[in-house]
Amino acid sequence: MPITIKNAQEIELMRIAGKILGRVHNEVKKELKAGMTTWDIDHIAEELIRSYGCIPSFLNYQGYPASVCVSVNSEVVHGIPSKYRIIQEGDIVSLDMGLIYKGYHSDAARTHGIGPISEEAAMLIERTKQSFFEGVQYAKAGNHLHQIGNAIGDYAEQFGYGVVRDLCGHGIGSHMHEEPEIPNYRKLRRGPLLREGMMLAIEPMINIGTYAVDWKPDGWTVVTQDGSLSAHYENTVLVTAEGPEILSLVEEE
Ligand code: MF3
Ligand code: CO
Repeated sequence: MPITIKNAQEIELMRIAGKILGRVHNEVKKELKAGMTTWDIDHIAEELIRSYGCIPSFLNYQGYPASVCVSVNSEVVHGIPSKYRIIQEGDIVSLDMGLIYKGYHSDAARTHGIGPISEEAAMLIERTKQSFFEGVQYAKAGNHLHQIGNAIGDYAEQFGYGVVRDLCGHGIGSHMHEEPEIPNYRKLRRGPLLREGMMLAIEPMINIGTYAVDWKPDGWTVVTQDGSLSAHYENTVLVTAEGPEILSLVEEE
């Protein structure tokens, strides 16, 4: 499958899909508090997504059993919500969600601290978000794809962080996962030429320690091998001639 170029009508639908998801993230963030379970978060987010007339895209995706991936502390991504997992003050919680609006996908992730968190956790969250912005500025027609990951990886590694290599960002559109694969670390090759109308889900996953990860026996939850904290930040992004248009980021009220 080649990298798809979205037409004006598809771009318009994906702008709406992105904006709704950005709002859902902002609304879920307000509800987060110590004492709730990761299942509570899933329930709140699913209801919000459906209240906007959208479909939670993760639910039943390759058998995934929930609408949101909730990954706590040393969990990197794809944590499965559970009625038995209570979030506590000092935790960092990554929320990854996707939705479908009129056949088009948006995908975005945020990492939040619960109550007061350690300085090292707060820095990790901030720098993971910043690594996305370091990379996304290269999402411009005429550039090459791997400029994005080079910038993300170089930025994060200067702090001694491990940039996860076993998972990547991806193209997005009428499917959640489309070509191209978008690494978050430096590559020798320059990668495909970026063209106007490409849609990219750029999603750095950054660990305080080693980049190496393992999968838990549930088959989904990705954890850091050394048990260090991990953060995730993702948006759905349109490539234009002028630069990136970040579709899933909505200003908080
Ligand atoms: N949001 C993930 C990604 O960015 C995919 C989630 S996998 C699912 O690629 F199974 F939970 F849907
Ligand atoms: Co994604």
